[in-house]
Amino acid sequence: MEMKTRIEEKFTTLFGTGGEMYASAGRINLIGEHTDYNGGYVFPGAIDCGIMAKIKVNGTKKVKAFSLDYDEYVEFGLEEEDKPLQQWARYIFGVCRETIKRGGKVEGFDCVFAGDVPLGAGLSSSAALESTFAFAINEIFDNKIDKFELAKIGQSTEHNYCGVKCGIMDQFASIFGKSGSLIRLNCKTLEYKYYPFDPRGYQVVLIDSCVKHELASSAYNKRRESCENAAAAIRKNHPEVEFLSDAKRVWLEEVRDQIPEEDFLRAEYVIGEVQRVLDVCDALERGDYETVGEMMYQTHFGLSKLYEVSCPELDFLNKLARKCDVTGSRVMGGGFGGCTINLVKDDLYYNFVSAVEEQFPEKFGHPVKIYDVVISDGARKIS
Ligand code: GLA
Repeated sequence: MEMKTRIEEKFTTLFGTGGEMYASAGRINLIGEHTDYNGGYVFPGAIDCGIMAKIKVNGTKKVKAFSLDYDEYVEFGLEEEDKPLQQWARYIFGVCRETIKRGGKVEGFDCVFAGDVPLGAGLSSSAALESTFAFAINEIFDNKIDKFELAKIGQSTEHNYCGVKCGIMDQFASIFGKSGSLIRLNCKTLEYKYYPFDPRGYQVVLIDSCVKHELASSAYNKRRESCENAAAAIRKNHPEVEFLSDAKRVWLEEVRDQIPEEDFLRAEYVIGEVQRVLDVCDALERGDYETVGEMMYQTHFGLSKLYEVSCPELDFLNKLARKCDVTGSRVMGGGFGGCTINLVKDDLYYNFVSAVEEQFPEKFGHPVKIYDVVISDGARKIS
C-alpha cells in the first residue's frame, strides 16, 4: 500500500478525522563533503524519498506520535524535562523545543508518520524527519519562522538532542530542495544558488554498501574538532580566518609543526574540497562531466586517505567504479559506511551495476542496494 494511504488509515484509527499532510526529503550531495561545518560550499539536492506525516492540533499540552516504521506510539510533553527515550521521538521533541526557543508557538498535536529514506545509508533520513516537522509546525501554528531558521531548527535538534555536531547541509537541502536542481550553498553566508541538474547521457546512481558504523556520530564530532583545532592554529597568524574554509593551503603549511598530524590531514582535505565544489559548478556550466567525475574521485581519495571516513567496502566500490570506466564515484555524506554516489554514462550503467552486484557480495558476503536518483522538492504541504 502507498505510504500516504497507510499513514491516513493509521491516523484515522488512532485520532479520527482532520489533520494535514506534510512531507520532506532525504538528500544527495554531488560534492562538498564535511565542508559545511567548516564554512565552505556544499552542492546537495533533495531526493524523491523522504518522510511524510499527518498532523493535527489536539488542544492538549501533549504530543501524541505514532511511527509506522517502528510500529510504536509515544506521548510526550513540551517542557525540557519531558524528553522522550525513543530516538525517533527525540527528533520531533527537539524540533518542538528548538521552535519554542526561537519564540515560536507549539502546542500539543497528534501525528502519524512514515518514511522511505533508507536508514543509515547517508541520505539524511533524520534531516527529512526534522524538516518535515519544522516545516509543518511552523505552518500549523502560523509562526512565520523563515526557511533558513527552519533548517537551523533541524540542525540544532541534532546538536542538542541527538549528540551530532552536524553542519547545515542536510537540513538546508531538505527544506530548500527543488525538483530538478542541485543547490550550491555557501555555508558561511547561507547564500545559495539553484543549478538545474540534468546530465544528459549520464545517470546518477547510489550504491549502498549497507555498512553502518556504530560510532559514526562520535567519529564525526572528532573530525569537526580536528578542523576547529587547525583553524584556531591558522587564526593566530591570520586573524581573518573565521572558519577553516577561509584558510589558504600555504597558511595550513605554516602551522604544520604546531598541530597533530591527524588534524593537518583533515584540514588539508577540507581546503581542497572547498575548491573542488567551485570547480565542479564551473564544469557543470560548461557541460564538462569528465571534470565533474574526476573531482568526485579526488574527493573520494581525500575522504578515504586524509579525512579517513571511508571503509573497505566503500573503497572497494570506488575502485570497481574506476575499473568499469564510471565517470565519477565517491563516498557520500558523513561516511563510515552508507553509499557511494556515482556518475555513470548511460551505456555503461548496466555493466557497472552488474559488476557491483556480482563482485561485492563475493568479497563481503552481503548484497548492496542500488538507488537511482531523482532530484525532487524539499519540505512541503501535501494537498
Ligand atoms: C552529515 C552531516 C552534514 C555534513 C555531512 C558531510 O550528513 O549531517 O552536516 O557534514 O555529514 O558532508
